[in-house]
Amino acid sequence: KVYPNQEVASVDVARRIAAIIKEKQGRGETAVLGLATGATPIKVYRELVRLHREEGLSFKNVVSFNLDEYYPMKPDADQSYVTFMNKHLFDHVDIPRENINIPDGTLPEDAVHAFCEAYEQKISALGGIDIQLLGIGRTGHIGFNEPGSAPNSGTRLVILDDLTRRDASRDFGGKENVPTKAITMGVGTIFKAKEIILMAWNEKKAEIVKKAVEGEISSDIPATYLQLSDHVEFVLDEDAASHL
Ligand code: GLP
Repeated sequence: KVYPNQEVASVDVARRIAAIIKEKQGRGETAVLGLATGATPIKVYRELVRLHREEGLSFKNVVSFNLDEYYPMKPDADQSYVTFMNKHLFDHVDIPRENINIPDGTLPEDAVHAFCEAYEQKISALGGIDIQLLGIGRTGHIGFNEPGSAPNSGTRLVILDDLTRRDASRDFGGKENVPTKAITMGVGTIFKAKEIILMAWNEKKAEIVKKAVEGEISSDIPATYLQLSDHVEFVLDEDAASHL
């Protein structure tokens, strides 16, 4: 779906999330959101905050699972995805703190595997993710599923691609400060979501969007796996869609 700009696209995505939250509220159920970080979803979160403040949208029945976190990473670090999510969404809405799930970047390495298994089980126990937001990295990663990731991969510790670390270097004041690893939901984890929305804006994403949508399905570009799913939507602005 191609929108004239990211503002209108983001408002539309936020309204769809709000509709799911309200529908579930009406049935006394929990809405399970799969959330993403990066510049791409910021305006979606801004609109959700506006809907909370001005239209009374409540997040009391929301449980959230973030896609990924750098490893190692302290939650209170400026660059952590915990800090990002608090700043852009959680500090401004009424989601119960205990309902927020973000991969734990503070675990000792030998505890990561068990943590990842528990993360998957927690999602399943809630009946799965109702709507999963995704951005796309220039390597074609979704979450931090870098080239080489398997289509059935689960939540796990991964090594970040050099290009991904270069793209993150501004946030960290130099590539050498960007962690070399991350914990990410797997491609298989993402695929289990009932609805998946991949968003991309700006010309700099046009090339990777073209490859993801029209390219041969390959582990070289994990976003191409999305072609295999019938419940994925690409939400683009005109610039990101310009090479299609
Ligand atoms: C990071 C995140 C991804 C995100 C990507 C794109 O690598 N782990 O989930 O999609 O960056 O970021 P941006 O939205 O800033 O372009």
